[in-house]
Amino acid sequence: MGSGFTHHQLAPFGVEVRIDDAKGLSAEEQAELRRLYERDGLLVVRGLELTLDDQLEFCSLFGPVLRSEGETYVISNNPEKGILAGAELTFHSDIPYVPVPYAAGALYGVEVSEGVSPTRFASGMRAYEQASPALRERIDGLNSIQMRTRTIDGRNRLTDAKPTDNCAVQAVVGRQAATGRRYIFPGETHSAAIIGLSEADSEALLEELFALLYAPENIYDHEWRTGDLVIWDNLAVQHARKPVTGGIRTLQRVSTGRFAYWDQYPLDRETFEKLKELVSEVA
Ligand SMILES: [Fe+2]
Repeated sequence: MGSGFTHHQLAPFGVEVRIDDAKGLSAEEQAELRRLYERDGLLVVRGLELTLDDQLEFCSLFGPVLRSEGETYVISNNPEKGILAGAELTFHSDIPYVPVPYAAGALYGVEVSEGVSPTRFASGMRAYEQASPALRERIDGLNSIQMRTRTIDGRNRLTDAKPTDNCAVQAVVGRQAATGRRYIFPGETHSAAIIGLSEADSEALLEELFALLYAPENIYDHEWRTGDLVIWDNLAVQHARKPVTGGIRTLQRVSTGRFAYWDQYPLDRETFEKLKELVSEVA
């Protein structure tokens, strides 16, 4: 462990870190931080004071940060500060319906009052490791269809697709490059079907996977404080939240990845411009 920070394990997964000086980490300490992030795919850092540029710089320790317009944004239950209002979000990885979804997501608590709706994280790695050998054998080599978001608080189905909507095929079992750990990828929000199965069999298998993924003992609820940064593996770890019913909850979002969203799905620009209206329409 580096001398510039201390860390401890979170339950049921994740690592919490305290850093004395986020900008003063040695190369060795940066490598140790990356290793801790990769271990469970979730790192919590408390007590930071970050501008958007600071957050981008810090997150660049974990992969190439996406700086282009629309790839960073603010989430807030105050519509004057950010998007998504108070809506519930069911478990998902971000933008699984483009060929190369974000590698990591990172949220920073700009202003948060005590007791507001936590961000919930479910580990696809733990879910895979808890699956029976028979289930692992069944899902190995299968693919899923991931739908563009039309609903943020429930399942998106094939019948929800509209002209110009983007969909992508993603493997049911992924492999985290840094550790080799395998994970169950399909999330509740965007997974329409498992390819090659009847509708009934596909639904039954998805329900089986969701039961493993979202078992209470597989979920870490992050109780926000102002100054927290949470960075997670967007593929191996899914996230969600219950409705935001009160308090102040303003979070600044940064992502890492090889390709920007708009590069992969330029037709969606118009939707982005109308995101606030879209959210209120589907929420
Ligand atoms: Fe998300």
